[in-house]
Amino acid sequence: MNDKNRIYLFDTTLRDGEQSPGVSLNVDEKVEIAQQLALLGVDIIEAGFPIASPGDFAAVKKIADTVEGPVIAGLCRAVKKDIDRTWEAIKGAKRPRIHTFLASSDIHLQHKLMLSREEALNQAVEAVKYARSLSPDVEFSAEDASRSDLDYLVQLITAVIDAGANVVNLPDTVGYAVPDEFGQFIRSVMERVPNIDKAIVSVHCHDDLGMAVANSLAGVANGARQVEVAVNGIGERAGNASLEEIIMALYTRKPFYNKEINVNYREIYRTSRLVSNLTGMVIAPNKAVVGRNAFAHESGIHQDGVLKERSTYEIMSPELVGVNRSNLVLGKHSGRHAFKDRLDQLGYDLKEDELAMAFVDFKEIADKKKEVTDDDLEALIKDHIWKVPERFSLEYLHISSGTTVVPMATVRLSIEGNGFEAAATGDGPVDAACKAVDKITDIYGKLHSYKLNAVSGGKDALGEVNARVSINGVMYNGRGLSTDIIEASVKAYINAINKHFYAEQRVREEREK
Ligand code: KIV
Ligand code: ZN
Repeated sequence: MNDKNRIYLFDTTLRDGEQSPGVSLNVDEKVEIAQQLALLGVDIIEAGFPIASPGDFAAVKKIADTVEGPVIAGLCRAVKKDIDRTWEAIKGAKRPRIHTFLASSDIHLQHKLMLSREEALNQAVEAVKYARSLSPDVEFSAEDASRSDLDYLVQLITAVIDAGANVVNLPDTVGYAVPDEFGQFIRSVMERVPNIDKAIVSVHCHDDLGMAVANSLAGVANGARQVEVAVNGIGERAGNASLEEIIMALYTRKPFYNKEINVNYREIYRTSRLVSNLTGMVIAPNKAVVGRNAFAHESGIHQDGVLKERSTYEIMSPELVGVNRSNLVLGKHSGRHAFKDRLDQLGYDLKEDELAMAFVDFKEIADKKKEVTDDDLEALIKDHIWKVPERFSLEYLHISSGTTVVPMATVRLSIEGNGFEAAATGDGPVDAACKAVDKITDIYGKLHSYKLNAVSGGKDALGEVNARVSINGVMYNGRGLSTDIIEASVKAYINAINKHFYAEQRVREEREK
C-alpha cells in the first residue's frame, strides 16, 4: 500500500451502516454482504464492533475466517478489553486490522469522556501501542476530529503515529464540516504532522448537511488516501459518504482528481440492491448512481439527445455500474428462452434449478400482470438468489376484512410436503394472517417495521414488502412479493420465520458437533 495516487476504499456498511436507525443484520446476512463487498473489490471491510454484542462478535469472526481479499477490520474503543475482543474476532483473517478510536474534540472530552486532553492523548497512545503488539495493521480514529483544536490534533496524530498507527482517520463525526474548510483541515494536518508520511490519512464523513461525499472528496484532493464509505450511504443518523458516489466521482472525474481505485464497477448496482434488500432500507428513486431514475430520461428533449448521442445527457454509462436496463418487456407469452436471455442481460446467472423455479414464479406474475418489467424481474429474482430454504411455504390464504368486521385470516402452509391450516383474528388482515402463521409454525414473531414498495407503476404493480420481525430477541428481515399486498406481507413474514428456523437449526448443529 504505497502508491501515492491510489485511494483505498474502506467500507463500513457492516459497522457504521448497521448503526442506521432500525437496521439490524444477522450473522448470515453480514457474511453475505461481506462476500459481495469482496466481489466488488473494496480494500477494507469494517466487519463490525465485536465488543458491542455476541452477535457482532460472531459476525466479525465469521467474516474474518471466511471472506478472502479485503483487509478485515474490527472497531474497538481505546481500551484493552475492547482491543482484546476485537483481536479475538479478527485474528483469523489473512490481513486483520484493529481500528481503535477515541474522541479528540473538547466537546467530547469534557462532556462525554470527562478526560483532559493530556489524559486522552496518553490513552490513545497506550491503545495504539497495545493494538500494534497484537496486529501489524492498526488504524486510529480521532472521533469528532473536524471539531477538534488543530494544535491538539496535530500533537495527538503525531503521537499515535509514533506509537505505531499505520492509518489515521479524521472523521467529521457529526457532519458539520463544509468542503472547502474540510479540505483545508486535511491539508493542515498533512503539512503540520511531522511524521505523516509514515501513515495513511483517512476521512470518514457523515451526511448531516448532505455533504459527506463532497467533504470526503475535498479530503482526497488534499492528501487523504483512504475514504470510509457505506453502501447506499447508510450509517448513523443521516448516514455516511456513499460508496457508489465516491467510486463513480473518482472514476468519472478522473481528469480532475487523478486518483486510482481498484474495484469491479459492474458489481456496484448488485451490491447496492443486496444491502437495500437485507437492511430493508429502500433506495430513493433519485439516488445518484443506483436510484431507479439515475439513468432515466423523461423529457423529450433529453430523450432525443440521448438517442442521438448518449454523452449529451449521460455522464456515466449505466452498464458500467451493472445496470442493464431495457425497454423490452416480457409478458405471459414470453418463453423460458426470452426469460433467461433477459436475466443474462441483467447480469443474473442462475443455476438450472433456480432458473426453473424462477420461471414458474415469472409465469404466475405474468398471468396477473400485463407487462413484466426489468424492475419486476429483479424483484422476483431476488427471491431466488438470496433465498433461504423454505421450511414453511404459503399454499393458501383467505382473508375476510372490511370496515365493519373483525379481520380474520385462514392460512394454509406447506411443511415438508404436508399441508397445515389455521385461522386467526387480528387488528388488521396482515396481523390476522401473521397470527395464523404463528399458530401453525409455533414460532411467534413480532412485526417491528413494515415497508411496502410498488416495484413498477400501474394498478397491477407488484408489491414488495420488507418486514423486520423480531423472534426471541433476534431481528430478521423478511421479504415478500406479489401483486396482492396482503399476500406479499404474509410471504415477507414467513420469509423471516424461515430465516429464524434455519438460523436456529445451524446453532443446534454446531452444538452437536
Ligand atoms: O463517525 C465516527 O467518528 C466514527 C468513528 C468511530 C470512526 O464512526
Ligand atoms: Zn461514523
